[in-house]
Order: sequence, then C-alpha cells, then structure tokens
Amino acid sequence: MNKSTLYRDLGRQLRSLIEGEPDRIANAANMAALIYHGLSDINWAGFYFTRGQELVLGPFQGQPACVRIAWGNGVCGTAAARGQSVLVPDVHAFPGHIACDPVSQSELVVPLIGGGRVTGVLDLDSPLLARFDADDQAGCEHLVAIFLGR
Ligand code: SME
Repeated sequence: MNKSTLYRDLGRQLRSLIEGEPDRIANAANMAALIYHGLSDINWAGFYFTRGQELVLGPFQGQPACVRIAWGNGVCGTAAARGQSVLVPDVHAFPGHIACDPVSQSELVVPLIGGGRVTGVLDLDSPLLARFDADDQAGCEHLVAIFLGR
C-alpha cells in the first residue's frame, strides 16, 4: 500500500473513532493506538499537550516517556515553538534531542494548532534512521487536522 492510500485509510478510521466524541484525552488515546499499530517501524506514538511554558505528556503507545518538555527544547519543544512540523532523519544529529527511548533513531513531530496557538504536539519515533519522509509529514498533518475537527 502506498503512503497516500495508507494515510487516507487511517484518516477514515480516525474519523469514525472520534466522531461525536468531544473528549480530547479519549480521542488522543485512540489516535495514538491507531497510529502505533497502523504504521510500520514505530516505537513510540503519542501526544504532549501545552501547559503554560511546558509540554506535558498525554496519551501514547510505546515505552514510558519523559513527562515535561520545556517550550523550545528537544524536537517536540522545537515544533511547538515554531508552530511547524519537524522531521528529523537522525535524532543523534539534532541538537538538544531528548532521548526518552534509546531505541529511537528518527522522529516526526506535528504541532496541534487551534485558535492561533499551539495546544500540543503529536510525536512519532522510529527505531529506523530516516523512517519518515515528506509523505509521512503530510499524512500526519492530515490526521492531526481530523483530530482537531477539521
Ligand atoms: N524525543 C523527543 C522527546 C519525546 S520522546 O521521543 C517520546 C524530543 O526530543 O522532543
């Protein structure tokens, strides 16, 4: 299956999972599980939500992770501060990368933007170098748009 078909399919599943359900935590939990089991070569998929000047861990699948990330720190904090997705082919080459699971080699972080502010991020980690490309970024941005009700 090519990536655009895969993400379209995941998008349809996500819509049916969250349809009519306003609870953000419940929807984030189902979305993390959908991505973790629906994409290959993923060792962590989940959310951090904005709390003041920090990102705080939300629903996820994978190994236990660091709970608080300062705004601007690591890949997650960088994506949040920029308000843009960050694609990291090799986390060891990213200054300030926060190693929650030493298995992770590449990472994709997509910010959640609502009402003109960053309300959190979706974070995906892979044990493979350069696991994520521009199609994954577009696909995950599509999933985040569905999560945000767009
Ligand atoms: N690697 C992330 C931290 C979160 S964990 O990967 C789950 C970062 O550098 O922001």
